[in-house]
Amino acid sequence: MRRPLVAGNWKMNGSSAMADDLTAAVTAAAPPAVEVLLCPPAPYLARVAAALAGSAVALGAQDCSEHAPGAYTGEVAGAMLRDCGCSHTLVGHSERRQFFGDTDARVAAKVARAQADGLVAVLCVGETLEERRAGRTEEAVGRQLDAVLALPDTGAVLDALVVAYEPVWAIGTGETATPGQAQAVHAWIRARVAERDAARAAALRILYGGSVKPDNAAELFAMADIDGGLIGGAALKADSFLAICAAAAATAA
Ligand code: PGA
Repeated sequence: MRRPLVAGNWKMNGSSAMADDLTAAVTAAAPPAVEVLLCPPAPYLARVAAALAGSAVALGAQDCSEHAPGAYTGEVAGAMLRDCGCSHTLVGHSERRQFFGDTDARVAAKVARAQADGLVAVLCVGETLEERRAGRTEEAVGRQLDAVLALPDTGAVLDALVVAYEPVWAIGTGETATPGQAQAVHAWIRARVAERDAARAAALRILYGGSVKPDNAAELFAMADIDGGLIGGAALKADSFLAICAAAAATAA
């Protein structure tokens, strides 16, 4: 039985006050059956880490440099994220791929670097609307996934990996993949990983992301291969984020 994981991706939103309020509300009511992860913008990581001390809620970054510390102005190293209290980092979010030049090769290098620094990498994959319409969803997701599965020591990579399937056309658009559409891709991802390592594929958590809201979370999380969610807009309000966590907890009961 895979323990559900719900991650809140605040994207480039927030303030110190918002971080304090949201963190306090989430730690007070996060259901123990679910692994809950908060991913605030980098400047708030240390602040949120301090507020999370002693709670079971985990901290993640939204991105991680593929480089070791050194002369890379503007970048943040995995070792620094660990030092600030992160246990996880998102890698390859579609906004990074679309706007900041994160190619499949760079994303794979970021996963390797993050894991070498002791972080669990939450690898985001997903097709664009054009790719889906052209019937190329599996090709797109497979290419993104294979770049990471090709890293040396696939077993060790999978041990510190979570996959988040986020169809690009569903992110922030209010348009959600139907549970059936999402389940089909999740099952395909698991089967692809199983070709390398069946036991680790069975244990791998695959999150769904893309306009998850309190009113659609339960039906998504009820699907056999959906192990939780990566939540954007609905993670900015404690009520909606906690309602989504509760929907995930219900599947673990
Ligand atoms: P959304 O974002 O829930 O606002 O669609 C999800 C994400 O980008 O991680």
